[in-house]
Amino acid sequence: MKIIVTARNGTRDFECEPGEKILHAGLRSGIALPYECGTGTCGTCKARLVRGDVGNDWPEAPGQSSLRRDAAEFLMCQCVPSADCALEIASVVKAMEPGGCVPTGVGARIQRTAELTHDVASLDLELARPLDFEAGQFMLMSVAGIAGARAYSMVNFERKAERLVFVVKKKPDGRMSEWLFGGPIAGARVDLFGPLGAATFHPDLGKNLLCIAGGSGIAGMMSILSRATQARHFERHTGNLFFGVRTRRDVFFLDELAAFQAQAPEALRVTIALSDEDVDPELGLRYPRFGFGKGFVHAVAAERMKGRFENVRAYAAGPPPMVDATLRMLLLEGKLKSDNIRYDKFS
Ligand SMILES: Cc1cc2nc3c(=O)[nH]c(=O)nc-3n(C[C@H](O)[C@H](O)[C@H](O)COP(=O)(O)OP(=O)(O)OC[C@H]3O[C@@H](n4cnc5c(N)ncnc54)[C@H](O)[C@@H]3O)c2cc1C
Ligand code: FES
Repeated sequence: MKIIVTARNGTRDFECEPGEKILHAGLRSGIALPYECGTGTCGTCKARLVRGDVGNDWPEAPGQSSLRRDAAEFLMCQCVPSADCALEIASVVKAMEPGGCVPTGVGARIQRTAELTHDVASLDLELARPLDFEAGQFMLMSVAGIAGARAYSMVNFERKAERLVFVVKKKPDGRMSEWLFGGPIAGARVDLFGPLGAATFHPDLGKNLLCIAGGSGIAGMMSILSRATQARHFERHTGNLFFGVRTRRDVFFLDELAAFQAQAPEALRVTIALSDEDVDPELGLRYPRFGFGKGFVHAVAAERMKGRFENVRAYAAGPPPMVDATLRMLLLEGKLKSDNIRYDKFS
């Protein structure tokens, strides 16, 4: 089916396979359609149907609340065309940059899972074919029998990756969480679509790095630190990573963070923020190079970053309230411009 999209800067067209979401078809064709979550919650991918017909795979999606139904608006990440369509989009739509990682569908097999805390696990996936992605990006994962896709950020970073590592926090009664944490799943096949997301890091940026993560939001930050370390970014720039969790039993990846810091002891600072309890002195003894603070991670970051926001590119990821508080802090206290702030809300 042919899809014609008219945006503020012109008209583009692409082919959509039967059953394929319009957003996926456009991105796969190298057209940078607007999106943020890719999973029906944010409303960023809305379009107006001018001609044709679309079926909605998830009419109850939270992102539907941002639509004007009388204006025939719909979410491109949830809708599948049943005829050739003409759409209008209120924003600008460009072709993707040459050399960028164009999203595509790829099969994968779950190799292993490992418990990181009482409610967080890591997931290693073997890809059916190698995949390029930028540090900080995510994939959509679908599993047979579970409606819709879920977004998970890559922990690893490598070119032509043959495996991906995700970190997943268990959501009580969540469909994917029940499956992932419910029993042995090694060997299971899943479908992925990506890479997606604009919270990407590239060393050519030439900026000091500030990463602020809440819970499983640390996933993409690990990929960014990996990329930065491989490119010797911290020989010329500073890095500050703030990792916020509730209590000591919720922290993970401390050894991995210590290994990153050991490669750039002068330039990279790691701070762990505990919101719900005092910092156990034993943790400080085990990780003497880390900073520790009590409070919400955005508040701890605001205090420790005072006077250090110059030439900074900031990344934030985690639960939506944590990301919103961090964005306010970066804009109001850090005085960063919005093009130097990248984020993923794990909604
Ligand atoms: C950009 C981004 C990156 C993320 N990265 C991570 C990460 O690295 N680690 C992590 O733990 N979590 C991450 N998340 C959150 C993750 O995608 C899931 O929301 C979370 O794992 C809970 O999934 P669940 O199935 O257990 O919960 P559920 O409540 O069952 O589902 C949660 C989400 O699944 C989608 N969904 C539910 N039902 C349907 C349906 N019928 N049709 C279509 N879609 C449906 C919706 O987007 C919903 O918000 C990320 C989210 C986003 C947006
Ligand atoms: S990208 Fe479609 S609702 Fe977020």
